[in-house]
Amino acid sequence: MNNTVVVGAQWGDEGKAKITDLLAEDADIIIRYQGGCNAGHTVVVNGETYKFHIIPSGVLYNDKICFVGAGTVIHPESFKKEAQELLDRGVSLSSLKISPLASITLPYHIDIDGISETSGKTNKIGTTKKGIGPTYSDKIGRYGLKIQDLYDEEFLNKRLDDILPLKNAALEKVFNSKTYSKEEMLKYCREYAEIFRPYVCEDWVKILSDALKHDKKILFEGAQGIMLDIDYGTYPYVTSSNPIGGGAGTGSGVGPTNIKNVIGVTKAYVTRVGEGPFMTELLDETGDKIRNIGGEFGTTTGRPRRCGWFDAVLSRYCVLVGGLTQMAITKIDVLNDFDELKICVAYKDKRNGKVYEDYPTNINLHNYLEPVYITMEGWKQDLNGAKSIEQLPQKAKDYLKKLEELVGIPITIVSVGPDREQTLMKENPFKTKVLI
Ligand code: GDP
Ligand code: IMO
Ligand code: MG
Repeated sequence: MNNTVVVGAQWGDEGKAKITDLLAEDADIIIRYQGGCNAGHTVVVNGETYKFHIIPSGVLYNDKICFVGAGTVIHPESFKKEAQELLDRGVSLSSLKISPLASITLPYHIDIDGISETSGKTNKIGTTKKGIGPTYSDKIGRYGLKIQDLYDEEFLNKRLDDILPLKNAALEKVFNSKTYSKEEMLKYCREYAEIFRPYVCEDWVKILSDALKHDKKILFEGAQGIMLDIDYGTYPYVTSSNPIGGGAGTGSGVGPTNIKNVIGVTKAYVTRVGEGPFMTELLDETGDKIRNIGGEFGTTTGRPRRCGWFDAVLSRYCVLVGGLTQMAITKIDVLNDFDELKICVAYKDKRNGKVYEDYPTNINLHNYLEPVYITMEGWKQDLNGAKSIEQLPQKAKDYLKKLEELVGIPITIVSVGPDREQTLMKENPFKTKVLI
């Protein structure tokens, strides 16, 4: 059993989709386990770019089951658009399956997210305004709708009778926003029931039980990143789900005893989009240089990403709470033209000199901390010639070695460009032999 989770080990956009697509070739089932269309996942194959939001990044292979798990939230219009765009480009969705237990983002969730983000509250999160927080809040509060509810009109009627009066009261009185009639919502649900129908997977219990029985290879695709995790991220500047490795269990229906590897995808530097603490953020021309070379602008919202040096303190924390067994380092090519590279090895309290080697989870303390850096020499050359990690320039290898040493787990994949081909893989979890 080699079932493997791909998880973002920073604040999202680490290149998870590229790594998922790559490993999907040798997997049988790919399961997206949390998040919604707040995710923007890019896969580049032979120069062709594909962007995914809720559909798993393994879908480009025709013969794999791609499953959108129970831990996700699905916005019907966004799903319809994403699916249509893929079909128009000739991508087959015949093996795409949606869990009947996935939650639905309804129009008022989007309204509430938008209003909450623009209403002058003090702790603006900088959300993607895709209705993620309000959908998960309703799920946890038991006021949500699941995909399976769309196919039981009597039940749906009763649910809407319970849900709508409360929602409408809040929309009108708290958010000063438009309300929704039951007829309007029923019409909406009927329309999307038909759009989802070809994909809804009633027999998912059998499919996953058989897969485990026959030792099929399951790849779990995380969205967002560990530092955006609702429990372990920089709360409240987080998303509303559990990207951590453990989220793959709750979000997919495959229990933790059936997961072997958790690959933490980590850029060779750090980025963040949205508000919240970021210890190694560079607000100078070095940050601009990383942003421009790395094309660090959001896939979903187009917002410029904040950029900074690699943070080993944060990565060590991600190893712990994410259950990481290995790292995939992406975008190392973005650092090709730097004389010096810094790596944060600890945080220091500016008030009393206290040094933190373990990540302090109280983000209020972060206001008083500063990064402690070591400096490495840059390699100042492009990496196109290297066909394996071994063949990288010595200084690039030194940089990677240092990251391994500081983070404490092996780097098994190094990505040197956006294309599927631009990847140096030392170990493929679905193949037993070491590839070097
Ligand atoms: P995800 O959300 O973690 O899947 O990542 P995104 O797709 O939002 O952002 C990663 C971006 O970096 C995409 O535009 C990728 O095509 C690109 N990318 C991935 N790996 C590499 C790499 O090794 N080098 C470069 N230059 N770009 C990469
Ligand atoms: P992928 O899967 C980067 C960030 C938002 C905001 C916070 C909460 O492409 O890595 P939300 O809309 O989820 O309520 O926003 O989380 N965020 C992401 N940042 N990549 C993502 O997804 C993100 N999804 C959400 O910017 O700070
Ligand atoms: Mg992204």
